[in-house]
Amino acid sequence: MKTLQVDLAERSYPIFIGEGLYSNVALWSHFIKSKQVLIVTNEKIAPLYLAALESALGSYNVATVILPDGEQFKTLASVDTIFGKLLTVQFGRSATLIALGGGVVGDMGGFAAACYQRGIAFIQIPTTLLAQVDSSVGGKTGVNHVLGKNMIGAFYQPQCVIADTAVLSTLDDRQLSAGLAEVIKYGLIRDLDFFEWLEENMYALLARDKDALAFAIERSCRNKAQVVMEDEFESSVRATLNLGHTFGHAIETGIGYGTYLHGEAVAIGTCLAADVSRAKGWLTDTDVARIEHIFKAARLPITPPEEMDVERFLDLMAVDKKNVDGDIRLILLKKMGEAALPMSVDRNLLVQTLKHYGRQ
Ligand code: GLY
Repeated sequence: MKTLQVDLAERSYPIFIGEGLYSNVALWSHFIKSKQVLIVTNEKIAPLYLAALESALGSYNVATVILPDGEQFKTLASVDTIFGKLLTVQFGRSATLIALGGGVVGDMGGFAAACYQRGIAFIQIPTTLLAQVDSSVGGKTGVNHVLGKNMIGAFYQPQCVIADTAVLSTLDDRQLSAGLAEVIKYGLIRDLDFFEWLEENMYALLARDKDALAFAIERSCRNKAQVVMEDEFESSVRATLNLGHTFGHAIETGIGYGTYLHGEAVAIGTCLAADVSRAKGWLTDTDVARIEHIFKAARLPITPPEEMDVERFLDLMAVDKKNVDGDIRLILLKKMGEAALPMSVDRNLLVQTLKHYGRQ
């Protein structure tokens, strides 16, 4: 097992990475605050991992909420279901909420934990690659609004993150690829050596080679932890973790939550952001081709959906947390392995890129 520490003063916590960790409760039980434990999971994960976790928590007073699976259920209504359960079982401020699932469960569970009685402890047990390498680390919690992705939320750090590599064995291929989009992101924004390693090892990752996956998860979490430690509340460098996300969130909101997986939308968005970076003279044609190639190799889409025209993109991109005074701001690449802080991008440049990728 590897342990990475996220140092955030009194909000510091460890990320445990290894095989067979989630049901080895002795390893992390000291992060549980009292006998009251609520597990939040979904209909896909519950049949696979819930019984083992409940049994490992046998000496606790455990309640469970099983939500429907999918980004379209990352709503205030789902969070209300969690509150309803916490109140029904009369859990108090010393209760601990365990989020057992992918990014949707982790974001909603964390948000519910942040709000219930003004904050109870929570533990992340991410079960997708995407959640292990990105969303479970760093304390971003929240839900979607029909008008914009992740528009309602709070920063709320977990007590610990348990990234159990064994649970990736049940992940479907599409979800594995979606997770790789965020892995590739770290290489592009701040870790060129890692990007080059990914170019060499994509086949091994897709074949679920254990060592390759463990290395990629650890390296991604290390990058994520470093960025979060530098800028927990996203006033500067943390925003670079959103490479491709402005276009990507527009796709997710525009097409309907759950149609494109988050990682798929981010892959397309990153190619679009790379094209804007090329238009600014920062990336070469070869760089952009390399970026498109690695996403294709990871079996991810690289062109925007037919249904999204230029106006729809621009309307939706106007609803983004990085925007200031109505200006659309993007994360662009200064060069391979280095992102720039968010910057306003001329509307004409966005239109040019969207047209380049076939949108009208
Ligand atoms: N997923 C981006 C962040 O945590 O800041």
